[in-house]
Order: sequence, then C-alpha cells, then structure tokens
Amino acid sequence: MDSRIELSRDEMRAFGYRVIDILVEHLATLPQQRVGAKAVPEEIYAKLSEPPPEHGSPYEPLLEQLQRDVFPSTMHVNHPRFFAFVPGPGNFAGVMAETLAAGYNVFVGTWLGGSAAEAVETVTIDWLRQLCGFEESCRGLFVSGGTVANLTALAVARHVILDDRLERAVVYMSDQAHSSLEKALRVLGFLPEQIHRIPCDEDFRLPIAYLTAAIKEDREAGKRPFCIIASAGTTNTGAVDPLRGLRAICDVERLWLHVDGAYGAAAVLCEQGRRLLDGLALADSLSLDPHKWLYQPFETGCVLVRQGSHLRSTFRLLPDYLQDVHRHSEEVHYTDLGIQLTRSFRALKLWLSFKMFGVAAFREAIARGFRMAEFAEQCLREMPDWEISSPARMAVVCFRYKRGDDALHAKLVEATLQDGFALCTSTTLRGRTVLRMCTINPRTTEQDIGDTLARIDATARLI
Ligand SMILES: Cc1ncc(COP(=O)(O)O)c(C=O)c1O
Repeated sequence: MDSRIELSRDEMRAFGYRVIDILVEHLATLPQQRVGAKAVPEEIYAKLSEPPPEHGSPYEPLLEQLQRDVFPSTMHVNHPRFFAFVPGPGNFAGVMAETLAAGYNVFVGTWLGGSAAEAVETVTIDWLRQLCGFEESCRGLFVSGGTVANLTALAVARHVILDDRLERAVVYMSDQAHSSLEKALRVLGFLPEQIHRIPCDEDFRLPIAYLTAAIKEDREAGKRPFCIIASAGTTNTGAVDPLRGLRAICDVERLWLHVDGAYGAAAVLCEQGRRLLDGLALADSLSLDPHKWLYQPFETGCVLVRQGSHLRSTFRLLPDYLQDVHRHSEEVHYTDLGIQLTRSFRALKLWLSFKMFGVAAFREAIARGFRMAEFAEQCLREMPDWEISSPARMAVVCFRYKRGDDALHAKLVEATLQDGFALCTSTTLRGRTVLRMCTINPRTTEQDIGDTLARIDATARLI
C-alpha cells in the first residue's frame, strides 16, 4: 500500500462488505459460540506489542488478526448467555446507525455544525421524555453512558441548589447506589464526608425514616443537605427506591432529586416496569442508559432534566471562536447543555432503532427480560441446593449455593469463565457472596437459562 490515507471507491466497498460479512456471521452464530474469554495479559501483549507501524498493510490480514487475537478474547456482552454485570444486547439498526454517524462524522455540538442532527437528537430525547412521562419543560441530551449522565445531572444539581458552592453541602444515597455516583461527586469536588450513604432496608431500598432523620441531624450539625439520589433499578438487585416518598422529602427540604435509572429506567416502557417505577417523572434529573436496556451499542447514555433550562444555565459558555454559532435563539446547541463540545451523532442509534422496529417491539423485549428472570427464579426454587438471595426484580435475580461458602462462589465464577458456555458474576448482599443473573437480552431463551443453571449446579458439586 502506498503512503495515503485514502481508499478508492472499490476498496472502500470491498472493505466495508467484508466487515459487514464478519459482523453478520458473528451475530448469527452467537448462541453456538463461547460467551467470550478473558485474555492472559502476557499472552495477549506478546501477540499485539510492536513498534508503531511505519508502513501500512492490506486490510484482509488485519481483519484476520482481529478475528484471531482480539475479538474472541473479549466477553460477548450481547451473547444470549451473558448474564453478568449489565449485558449489552445491542441491535443491528444501532450498529448501522453508528456506522453512518462515523461515516458522515456528524458534529452534534452546535446547530451550525450539525443542525438536522441536533434536531434528530431533540426529537429522540423528546420521545424518551414522553415515554418516561416528563412534562414538556424537560430537556436532555445523549452522553457516553450512565457515569457521565450522573456527572451531568449532579453538576446541574450543584449549580441550581448550591450555586456551585460546596462547603458543608451533603448528598444522600443508599449503600446500594452505583459507584459512578460517588465518582461523579468526587469529580465535582465533593469530599467523602459530604456523601451520606444510608444503609438500605431489607428490600435493598433507601429507607425514608432513616433518611429523614439523617437530614435533620445533618441540618442541626450546620450542614447543607442539597440532593437525594435515588436508584431506579440498582445494579445489585434491581431495587427501586421509593420515588414518590423521596420527592415529598425533597419538596419539604428543598432538595434536588436525582434518579439514577441508568439500569432500570428503560423498563418504564412496559407495564410491569411502569408500576415499579411509579413517580419516575417526579425526578429533577434522570439518568437512563439506552446502551443497556434499550439495546443500543455502547456509548449511548442519556440524561433528562425536568426543568430543561437548568442544563443551559449550568453549562453554557460563549467563547469568541463560537460567536458565529449563537445568533439565533431557536437553534439548539448541544454543547450548551452538557460537557462536550465535539459530540458524535449518538441519537441516530436510538432514532433508527425506534423507527425501524417500533417502540412496541422494545416494550415486548423489555417485558421478556422480566419474564426470563422470573423463569430463572422459578428454576432455582426447584433446585434443592440453591436459595434465592434476592427475587427476580427488574430482570435481576441473585442466588446462592446452600452448601458452599463465599470462596466457593468465587471459584464458581472462575470455573464458568473457563468453561465459556455462559457467564454469571457475583456480588455481595448482606455481607455474603451471591451469584447474580441479569436477563435483559431479548435473544435469551428459557433453554439458555435452564442449561446455564444446570451447568452451574453441576460445577458447584465438583468444587
Ligand atoms: C445503576 C447504574 N448506574 C450507573 C451505571 C454506570 O453506567 P455506565 O457504565 O454506562 O457509565 C451503571 C452501570 O452498570 C448502573 O447499573
């Protein structure tokens, strides 16, 4: 290959078609494949380490290298038997949208840069607003994921409630809240003693009475309570904090209510989820991750703010080199609403997926996730050596081998990793290690669940 960073039309076509063929083959045969694998560091670096390649090479051997050395040594988070952490089922419309967005390399930071794409983002965000039940004043934006959604929302809370002054401010959340919240608060400058973690109740929810007492005590000590963070689907157990009760406290105490629905908020689309998420639209801000339970490729997070104008008042700056951008007030500039200036066309993934399949298909797929976890729970209840540690809730079920200690559960995870048929990972509930299954992948079948549990049971007996 000569020294150029260009391909001819025919070369682009051949390269592109080859990539699509690889993807289609991979996705169509996923259930027959291993769930993925974890590379051994010295082995993988031995294969990949090399000086910067001064001269190029044809794409065919490079794709072969990736297919041989890289992709098989990753976890296939879209595999129907990947039950660990939060799966990333994805969908092909999202993949194509990602490709189009990269190909056009649309800039979605200002109206001047990407006007129609900004409009697509506004329309898609408004779909999410409607689906979640927020009023029309609600605005939002797509971000990289739940972590940045939480960071963005908490920056708004800090600005609106504290006028960006942090001294003696306190934020409350349960001990089940996701670590990204603590990380976001750290980035925003809060000290560990300003984060009041409340022990959860027996259902892994934020206890209202305990919280009210904590707020009173903190006020009496001269502190400034400013925000309650609720979880709408905890990562551990799918628990949803009492959103209406928390709203009532926030109203009385004049606090911001942020709801971390990165995992669970998408469940509002289906009937069962809507009931569990009662009060969702009472949040001042909400994190919601389409790259989880709305089946988008990664780097598709979203944050909604009930009074949308707060986003602009928190993030808008007017540097000289953007003076041509801010001329017409009806134009939206997504850089004014969040952290990034250069932003990709993330909205296109959800827009194309909703348009192609329809929200009804998503609703049914989400409901199926609930049913799969209930099926897993039912299977486990029929297995004499296993007990349920946390029942199926929001497509998450946690369970424990009655005849084994914490160490056995850790060994079980390691053994299933080696086995490669399926993957469940562990967490700690009430001080004990448990296994956890998250069943949001709409391609997961009852057989996948039955076979996985039978295999784990057989492995537990051998350890
Ligand atoms: C409840 C919850 N909040 C936040 C996050 C962080 O989201 P992300 O990994 O997209 O940054 C997760 C991730 O699993 C989560 O489950």
